[in-house]
Amino acid sequence: MKTVRVGLLGFGNVGSGTYDTLKMNMGKIERETGVTFSIDKALVRDPSKPRRSEAPAAIFTCDAYDIIGNPDIDIVCELLGGIEPSTKYMLDAMKSGQHVVSANKAAIAANYPELTKTAKDNNVEFRIEASVCGGIPVLSCLTSVLGANDFSEIMGICNGTTNYILTQMTDFDLEYADVLKVAQEKGFAEADPTADVEGLDVANKLSILIALAFGKYVHPKDIPTTGITAITKDDIAAATARKCKIKLIGKATKHDDGSLEYSVEPVELPAAHPLAGVSNEFNAVFLTGNAVDDLMFYGKGAGPLPTGSAVAGDVLEIGKAIAKCEACDK
Ligand code: NDP
Ligand code: HSE
Repeated sequence: MKTVRVGLLGFGNVGSGTYDTLKMNMGKIERETGVTFSIDKALVRDPSKPRRSEAPAAIFTCDAYDIIGNPDIDIVCELLGGIEPSTKYMLDAMKSGQHVVSANKAAIAANYPELTKTAKDNNVEFRIEASVCGGIPVLSCLTSVLGANDFSEIMGICNGTTNYILTQMTDFDLEYADVLKVAQEKGFAEADPTADVEGLDVANKLSILIALAFGKYVHPKDIPTTGITAITKDDIAAATARKCKIKLIGKATKHDDGSLEYSVEPVELPAAHPLAGVSNEFNAVFLTGNAVDDLMFYGKGAGPLPTGSAVAGDVLEIGKAIAKCEACDK
């Protein structure tokens, strides 16, 4: 059986979720793909730190270039966070002929044109399913089974942390700071949760959705963005009294003249609206395509295993392609 070798840059929430997903389902994966996947190395800052999942100590390294450019590693999964050194690591891996999978929407959204061009120039795969809405397979659908559509609108709840905070404040009258702490403990929040609560994480995701749905790159800094930090318990109580729920919504609309309008902001939705029922770390994305019409995706947008599911899915797709290529060459 073909063995595809994987290196993880990062073994935090998402790195460990990816490791656990592949480990718990490897028997089924091998049977269905005819490929086995081996996580040979994982980059961390502190190898002695306690981890969510049990991995052999021998896989940990503090040198990124034990993985990047290593001819024994086929796929590099960038799961670090932050724009640098993540972007440089991804570019260096691509230039050395390694396929790259990333969950890092901050780095992807900031450098989307350069990353996609470098992947193309070096004839390697660059897959990013986990970067938008964790476990929801919205990006792959946009580029595969929905690829025949012309899209006019995309709208969603794309951040698990803020949706968790708003849900808990609304349903249990809890304090913002206490709920944010729980979201961090559950592995939903960014290392610096400012990106979540200020809406910047949704702007990063919307930038990626716009690139894939509308074929246009918009830098996240150019997306008008308001987060949830100014939302008070009084705002929530007033919305509840009006039978509404406050949700952080990212939205992009294509007008008839082809121009795009986009924003990230808290919106008061009537309780009967389908997005009003999306609670806690769940996310949802509404799309409108000129053939498929209205479509809604729903699932867990954050957390180690839901996100690990998306990263592992990308790894599988690349592994299957590697095995197919080798079979054709024989
Ligand atoms: P964590 O902070 O939990 O993990 C980051 C990992 O990267 C840690 O293992 C850390 O090492 C390592 N690391 C970070 N910087 C460096 C560096 N410069 N050199 C070596 N190692 C480094 O983050 P998450 O797993 O939560 O997130 C990872 C990425 O996935 C981010 O881009 C995030 O936006 C994205 N993402 C997260 C989701 C989630 O639900 N958490 C969902 C979807 C995407 P050490 O452990 O030693 O500190
Ligand atoms: N911090 C992000 C969130 C992780 O809460 O949605 C998933 O992208």
